[in-house]
Amino acid sequence: MNVLVLYGTESGNAETVADDIVDEFSDQVDIRAIDMTDAGLEDLALETLCMVVCSTHGEGGLPSSAVPFAELLDAERPELAGMNYAMFGLGDSTYEDTYSQGSEHIDKRLTALGATRIGTYGRHDAGDGSLPNEEALTWAQEVLEEINLKAVA
Ligand SMILES: Cc1cc2nc3c(=O)[nH]c(=O)nc-3n(C[C@H](O)[C@H](O)[C@H](O)COP(=O)(O)O)c2cc1C
Repeated sequence: MNVLVLYGTESGNAETVADDIVDEFSDQVDIRAIDMTDAGLEDLALETLCMVVCSTHGEGGLPSSAVPFAELLDAERPELAGMNYAMFGLGDSTYEDTYSQGSEHIDKRLTALGATRIGTYGRHDAGDGSLPNEEALTWAQEVLEEINLKAVA
């Protein structure tokens, strides 16, 4: 199985999450991580599963590294039917009105273009001072189990 971990980050947390997911699961699946800034539409077409890890910045906005990817999707409007993706949002609930909304911008775009979100919508809340990595590994494990079940069904 090919897995692409696509991360959007402002200050690096989503990148360390993506790297940890690759390290944890590279003995089970063909997995790589790329910054959304570097992602092209050909990357989406090739993958069995796209794990999106994206933080929130500004007031519920995208982190800077996710902006080019969002603009690419808006400009090209690729047909993504058949693409499976999973979402993990990084945020801070002390931003009450905009908690975790950065990831939701990407989620809405992928769904609108026909992609299918699988698994639970993972979220990490930095409001308690914790790091997202452990939670994200648990989330990724569950997502991989779900897609394996889909493959068997
Ligand atoms: C200036 C600034 C603005 C932020 N705005 C939001 C926000 O509107 N909503 C939210 O849920 N989190 C917000 N956060 C929290 C980040 O999403 C959180 O710290 C995340 O772990 C950062 O991940 P990154 O290093 O991958 O960008 C903000 C953080 C900073 C520093």
